[in-house]
Amino acid sequence: MKRILVIGSKGMLGKDLMKVLPSSFPEDEVVGWDIEEIDIQKKEDTLFKIEKLQPSIVIHVAAYTDVDGCELDVEKAFSVNAEGTKHIALATSRCRGKVVYLSTDYVFDGNKGEPYLESDPPSPLNVYGHSKWKGEQYIQEWVESPLIIRTQWLYGRYGRNFVTSILRQAREKEVLSIVNDQIGSPTYTADLAKVISVLIRYDAQGIFHVANSDLCTWYTFGQAILKLSGINRVKVIPISSKEFGRPAVRPSYSVLNCQKLKKETGLALRSWSEALKDYLTTYRLEISEEGR
Ligand SMILES: NC(=O)c1ccc[n+]([C@@H]2O[C@H](COP(=O)([O-])OP(=O)(O)OC[C@H]3O[C@@H](n4cnc5c(N)ncnc54)[C@H](OP(=O)(O)O)[C@@H]3O)[C@@H](O)[C@H]2O)c1
Repeated sequence: MKRILVIGSKGMLGKDLMKVLPSSFPEDEVVGWDIEEIDIQKKEDTLFKIEKLQPSIVIHVAAYTDVDGCELDVEKAFSVNAEGTKHIALATSRCRGKVVYLSTDYVFDGNKGEPYLESDPPSPLNVYGHSKWKGEQYIQEWVESPLIIRTQWLYGRYGRNFVTSILRQAREKEVLSIVNDQIGSPTYTADLAKVISVLIRYDAQGIFHVANSDLCTWYTFGQAILKLSGINRVKVIPISSKEFGRPAVRPSYSVLNCQKLKKETGLALRSWSEALKDYLTTYRLEISEEGR
């Protein structure tokens, strides 16, 4: 029997993992920890707790994910995303365990103009991207044969995300301005959680890019959310990132090439629009209630 530890188990992806893993690994024990159980910024405490548990696999999805917040609080960004990750890496290597680390498309600057390969050199534009890349480096330095999964534009059943935000704003406003100069692939956490469990089963190692297929801008994504939700009365206006004026600069094109995943496991994720339709059909009522 293996012991699988999910750190960040109460986050958006963490909750989906806690749903998927027990059925994917019925023989094994799945343990979930979040900030109440472990603050990964605290080195000694993190080492002590992980070493005591002796997990065979640690899936590390805890992070300070507020991209603009990271820009304003650089110290916290690096303390959680980089140093916290180093503490997990150190502890897990002492247990001779395996680490699965979730990283981001924001390690890239978006200037490539075509989908990013796992082998492309990172060059982050913002503090969040820098701190996550530092996390990747610590994992590679301290853990033997880690699995690093880069993903992007997540939304899911749990937690606030772009979809819930658009639906909430659509209830309050008649006109929505949405950024139209950033291109990526919105990714459904339920799909991602399933792929993570398959990659663990394959004992995959190295870096993998995992995202729903096809690409869009936040503007097209927003339009699709409203259309699939049957909301016609809201006008959507495309604007530039500059006009939107967020503290953190985002890459203009951060599409991830997921061919390695397909080649090594046979897996290809469905298109973002199919996944979105599935998500909205399943959870729209629930999301509407949450936003009230
Ligand atoms: N969301 C995206 O679009 C996106 C895109 C690419 C990659 N990723 C990566 O995917 C992973 C999962 O993202 P997500 O959106 O599911 O994140 P999330 O919902 O923000 O969940 C992260 C969890 O980590 C917890 N946490 C924060 N600081 C911690 C600490 N010091 N010690 C222990 N736990 C702590 C958070 O608790 P609190 O809520 O109390 O802070 C939260 O429960 C992250 O590694 C993220 O960087 C996300």
